[in-house]
Amino acid sequence: MHTRIVEVVEENPAVKTFRFRYNVKVLPGQFCMVWDGAGEEVPMSFSYTGKIKGVTVKKVGKTTDLLHRRKPGEVLRIRGPFGTHYPVSSKKYLLVSGGTGIASLAPAAEKIVGRGGKCRFVAGFRNASEIFFIERLRNAGIDVEIATDDGSAGFRGFVTELAGKLFAGESFDYIIACGPVQMLKEIGRRFAEKVETYISIESLMKCGIGLCDSCSILGYRVCREGPVFRAGELIEKGWLEE
Ligand SMILES: Cc1cc2nc3c(=O)[nH]c(=O)nc-3n(C[C@H](O)[C@H](O)[C@H](O)COP(=O)(O)OP(=O)(O)OC[C@H]3O[C@@H](n4cnc5c(N)ncnc54)[C@H](O)[C@@H]3O)c2cc1C
Ligand code: FES
Repeated sequence: MHTRIVEVVEENPAVKTFRFRYNVKVLPGQFCMVWDGAGEEVPMSFSYTGKIKGVTVKKVGKTTDLLHRRKPGEVLRIRGPFGTHYPVSSKKYLLVSGGTGIASLAPAAEKIVGRGGKCRFVAGFRNASEIFFIERLRNAGIDVEIATDDGSAGFRGFVTELAGKLFAGESFDYIIACGPVQMLKEIGRRFAEKVETYISIESLMKCGIGLCDSCSILGYRVCREGPVFRAGELIEKGWLEE
């Protein structure tokens, strides 16, 4: 569907959020295929799932660089929503993000709190200059702690360590994580046997709808059977050793 960008927000020097009208039901964790008419079509998680949707894009290469040049009023082509979603209920959650992983977890956190659930959020970034979405989460009443690799804000060290410290002192019904693959594997190692753990993984995507097989990992099409998986399911198939 064609839609026009209604707002562009610069979250940090490498990350921009594009807000647009897209009148379909989207569940937290689902993604869309985005095309600006110039670059490739690329998968992006929905970072806003309400009436005005959003995607939050980190500039890493050719297409995301082109997307970063788009302005309010310009057209985006959106297909989706696609894929599985995070479990969100009135239970108690620990959410763990690494880098732009916070983009797909923020709507889940808001939905959990909206449903009367409890949510602690630990957000990891390389350094203080990369931090974004924290005010948005705190404004929604979510308890957020930050970890940075260099200690320039919050806890010094990996976000998985900070998650471990919280987990040692409190009990949770679910852990949900989104971020770089090495971080997700560490989450799997630490928590999957102790508590219901869900992760959102990335893979190279072309069709987004289960036809081309370009996104397959361990026999799963990430665009259909994922991107949100129960960590234990992937671990049983040897994901940690890959
Ligand atoms: C389900 C899903 C949801 C995603 N959600 C987001 C999101 O919310 N925000 C966001 O910024 N990005 C997200 N991505 C990643 C995004 O699709 C890629 O960064 C983008 O396609 C890169 O395109 P490019 O042409 O700019 O980069 P390219 O020129 O193709 O690549 C540049 C660099 O990025 C790496 N790269 C490319 N694609 C991926 C990928 N899928 N995963 C990891 N590394 C990749 C390449 O290896 C290369 O090092 C998501 C990916 C998936 C599969
Ligand atoms: S992207 Fe084509 S099958 Fe998943």
